[in-house]
Amino acid sequence: MVDEFVIDSSDRKELGRTGEYVAAIGIGTWDIRNKSNMIDALSHAVSLGLDLVDTAEMYGNGFAEEVVGEVVKIVGRDNIFITTKLLPEKFSDAHRGIKSAEASLKRLGIKYADLILIHWYTPSIPMDRMISVLEAIKDKGYTRYIGVSNFSVDELSLALSSLSKYDLVVNQVKYSVLDRSVERELLPFMVREGITVQAYTPLERGSIVYHPDIKRFAKRYGKTPAQIALNYLICHERVTTIPKTERINRIEEFKGALGWRLSVEDILKLKSL
Ligand SMILES: NC(=O)c1ccc[n+]([C@@H]2O[C@H](COP(=O)([O-])OP(=O)(O)OC[C@H]3O[C@@H](n4cnc5c(N)ncnc54)[C@H](OP(=O)(O)O)[C@@H]3O)[C@@H](O)[C@H]2O)c1
Repeated sequence: MVDEFVIDSSDRKELGRTGEYVAAIGIGTWDIRNKSNMIDALSHAVSLGLDLVDTAEMYGNGFAEEVVGEVVKIVGRDNIFITTKLLPEKFSDAHRGIKSAEASLKRLGIKYADLILIHWYTPSIPMDRMISVLEAIKDKGYTRYIGVSNFSVDELSLALSSLSKYDLVVNQVKYSVLDRSVERELLPFMVREGITVQAYTPLERGSIVYHPDIKRFAKRYGKTPAQIALNYLICHERVTTIPKTERINRIEEFKGALGWRLSVEDILKLKSL
């Protein structure tokens, strides 16, 4: 059984099949409480090489994108990989999708994003239309790459067969050491298709740090529970993660989840929690 799991020990991982490598741990921006703390935390993250940020037009009705825009001014556009997400209804027609992307770019204060995602699939719009709008946004030069979020295996398969010119490089999904449902079908499917996972809510909104078993692992490794939880994820091929914090000390803590790996035996034990 031990031989079945192969650890991915890279701290920068290929984005889809682009040949471009991004930080295995980037930073999320949902639910920002204090703008200046978030700006400091994100700027610090970039300086430590955690140089990928995840945001969305939905977060604080554009407020999170504005905060990221402030960070871009500090760190420089070329030093940060910016993902944003547009609401599903914006993919009903190309005009609407393009206008939405333009509004996001304006809030972000940038000419193009690195990655734009469909935030989630809605059955009220045909998949081929959603994907063609996403491709139209890329055609305009508003993003370097495209992807999706919260897509199941069936939705992702349909999305892949609806593409006409570009690849989907990411599917951003809920995934933590305590919520491993994606490991059953979605993760193997994405590995086969060469699509990067961005695992969201990797700390279960902070509650993971109180889990007694995770605490025990942390003690044994001389790491913190959050570091165990993040390391577990990035041990997996194709998996990156985007924990959120607006505290500089926790950015340092996230950085400490890189540069080492859990043993295969312990990964398998964590899988049985
Ligand atoms: N695509 C989607 O549908 C979707 C859905 C949800 C989230 N996301 C993205 O994924 C990101 C991360 O997910 P998330 O924000 O839901 O949850 P998370 O990263 O699991 O947890 C973030 C929360 O945990 C706290 N926290 C961080 N480090 C901690 C530590 N070491 N000890 C204790 N508490 C800690 C943070 O507070 P402090 O700020 O005070 O540190 C924050 O309240 C989001 O910000 C967002 O960008 C995407």
